[in-house]
Amino acid sequence: MNTQQSWVARSLQSVWHPCTQMQHHESMPLIPLSHGRGPWLYDMDGKRYYDAVSSWWVNLFGHANPRIGNALKQQLDQLEHAMLAGFTHEPVIQLSERLAALTNHRLGHCFYASDGASATEIALKMSFHFWRNHGNTEKQEFICLKGSYHGETVGALAVTDVSLFREAYGPMLQRAHVIASPDARQAADGETAVQVAERALKEAEALMQQREGRIAAIIVEPLIQCATGMAMYDVAYLQGLRRLCDQYQIHLIADEIAVGCGRTGTFFACEQAGIWPDFITLSKGISGGYLPLSLVMTTDTVYQAFYDQDIRRGFLHSHSYTGNALACRAALATLDIFEEDQVLQSNVQKALELSSAFAPFAAMPEVKHLRQRGMILAFDVQTTAEQSRDFSRRFFTTALQHECLIRPIGNTVYLMPPYVMNSEEIQWLASTTKQVLQEVLE
Ligand SMILES: Cc1ncc(COP(=O)(O)O)c(C=O)c1O
Repeated sequence: MNTQQSWVARSLQSVWHPCTQMQHHESMPLIPLSHGRGPWLYDMDGKRYYDAVSSWWVNLFGHANPRIGNALKQQLDQLEHAMLAGFTHEPVIQLSERLAALTNHRLGHCFYASDGASATEIALKMSFHFWRNHGNTEKQEFICLKGSYHGETVGALAVTDVSLFREAYGPMLQRAHVIASPDARQAADGETAVQVAERALKEAEALMQQREGRIAAIIVEPLIQCATGMAMYDVAYLQGLRRLCDQYQIHLIADEIAVGCGRTGTFFACEQAGIWPDFITLSKGISGGYLPLSLVMTTDTVYQAFYDQDIRRGFLHSHSYTGNALACRAALATLDIFEEDQVLQSNVQKALELSSAFAPFAAMPEVKHLRQRGMILAFDVQTTAEQSRDFSRRFFTTALQHECLIRPIGNTVYLMPPYVMNSEEIQWLASTTKQVLQEVLE
């Protein structure tokens, strides 16, 4: 047994891996990593893998990024962590101020946690408690979209509509209303993405009317429902939803955990629709992929509803690592890179290059719905029954043999690369993806 095999054996013995049927590792490789540099991950045998999914969408500026690393080293000598109740510190203050400024101070209050799912829980609880503080105790229901994904803790799973993840836990969950997704792939012949959005909005309005006075909030992933298979939709849906939420006095929660931090082309995806929600949840890329950090941003109106003499009207939610100084410092270093390198501008060019490198895929008979928004590119693969068996795992394994980390969702192949990707790598990603696809369909 070489060193790499021995680490794998020890890991399988003691580490329970996320989102994995552990038995699949009898045939699927588990790769013990040694280090990362830029977009590449290296295993213990020295083989490398291009991280084309940014390690579950978190890594924006490459692994072992010296700028984020140096900021963290300095912070380590200053303050690693302190409880945030009764105390505050420079990194959490600066981060909150800078994020508020990015919303033109429309969402000027930041509440912190560690993982995305915790941010979902916080936004749901804040909305619920807001209405209660207003004496509106009937507003207890939530709406989510078909195919939505907002995390896997019990509260977050209640507004998640991916049956694979929620099926086993159904009886534990407080069911939310699930309404039509505006997924543009549903367009009938001749129908535009805007018309699909309008159709979905009609269903949203019908429910809001029917349950008037009972709905606390609707939660959506703006522009792209990522975990269900990169379902992209038109900005008209967000605009319409904002109008409906105002009309029916319902909070709009924008889960920007996956689509925030520049993924769709603007820092917040909602900016493209020209709307601001009542809550934004952020996580993943905000710390550059360095440390677990999530947060909920909200408005003065929401904040003021909790501001009172009475402790029970306050938002008493907490996590031990709320506002962790190191994680906030990593986020500040990440925001510095956005500013200093004008990342949103240079990503425009990279997105165009990605788009033209993958354009020939549209002509492949098995490829359906080639789509892209900003730095997310996806297509669906039409397979025969034989080809569809274990498609995702076979694609993943074959891609690894070609030095590439791509992990399809069902039959949807997608790329969500780190923003440090260069022109040469874009060409290589397109040719490698094509090669892998051909081998998997053989
Ligand atoms: C849109 C969205 N919301 C919430 C989550 C949950 O985040 P976490 O895995 O950090 O709990 C995810 C994770 O993929 C996500 O994509």
